[in-house]
Amino acid sequence: MLLEGLPYVLTPMTLDDVPFVAEIERRVFPSPWPATAFRYEIAHNAASRYLVLRYRPWIHRGVKARRRGLWQLLQRAPSDDPSLIGYGGFWLIVDEAHISTLAVRPEWRGRGLGELILSSLIAKALKEHAQLITLEVRASNVVAQNLYRKYGFRVVGRRKGYYSNNREDALIMSIERANELLYRQRFAELRAKLRARLLAQPNTPPEQLLETAGNGRGESHNHSEDEK
Ligand SMILES: CC(C)(COP(=O)(O)OP(=O)(O)OC[C@H]1O[C@@H](n2cnc3c(N)ncnc32)[C@H](O)[C@@H]1OP(=O)(O)O)[C@@H](O)C(=O)NCCC(=O)NCCS
Repeated sequence: MLLEGLPYVLTPMTLDDVPFVAEIERRVFPSPWPATAFRYEIAHNAASRYLVLRYRPWIHRGVKARRRGLWQLLQRAPSDDPSLIGYGGFWLIVDEAHISTLAVRPEWRGRGLGELILSSLIAKALKEHAQLITLEVRASNVVAQNLYRKYGFRVVGRRKGYYSNNREDALIMSIERANELLYRQRFAELRAKLRARLLAQPNTPPEQLLETAGNGRGESHNHSEDEK
C-alpha cells in the first residue's frame, strides 16, 4: 500500500470537496474550470474518476472549513480547506483514460505529491483495464511534461492554439499499451521509488501554511498563475 505510514489520504472527490478544489483551480490555472464543471463531473459523468489528496493531520480542520465553506458560499466569498493538497482526474472511455486535470497547491510542490496523484490516477486506470492513457499539456509547461515523461508518456501530437486564453499549443502525450507487462513492471518500480522517497522525507506541512492552517483559519491567497 503506497500510503501506509504516511500522513496523506487519497479519496474520490465528492461534491463537498468542490468549492475548495475550485479555489485551488483558480489559483493554479489561467483558464480554470468553474465549480459547476467539477460538480457535473462528479454527479453526472459516469466516465469520470476524480481523486483528492489530503494531509491527514489537518482533516478535522478541513471539516470545520467545510462548515464555514457553506456559510461563506452563501455569502458568495471564496473559502479554503487547508487539508486539501491537490487533486486530479480522468475520463475512462472503453479502454482509453484521458487525464483531464492534475494540480498540487503551490506550497506543497516539489515533494513528490504531484507524482503521487498522477501515479494513483494511472493505477486506477490500469485497474480498470485502460490500454491508452492520454492527456493534453501546454507546450510551455515543462514541469508537468517532465512528470509525464517520467511515467512513460510520449508526445504523440500537437493541437494548434488549443488554449483559449493565449492560443498556446497543446502537446498530446500518451502511454500506449499501458496494460502490458513491460509498462506495469516499470510502473511498479516507479511507485516503489516514490514510496521510498515519501518515507524518507519529513512530510511536515509547508512553513507558509503552518500559521494560518494551524489556527484553523485557512491560508491566504497569493493568486499565482501556473500553466495548465
Ligand atoms: C505539475 C505538478 C502537478 C507537479 O506537482 P509537484 O508535486 O510539484 O511535482 P513532484 O514533486 O511530484 O515532481 C514529480 C516530477 O515532476 C517534475 N518536476 C517537478 N518539479 C519540477 C521543476 N521545478 N522543474 C522541472 N521538473 C519538475 C520532475 O520530473 C519530478 O520528478 P523528480 O522529482 O524525480 O525530478 C504541479 O507543478 C502543478 O500543480 N502545476 C500546476 C498545474 C499543472 O500544470 N498541472 C498539469 C496540467 S497538464
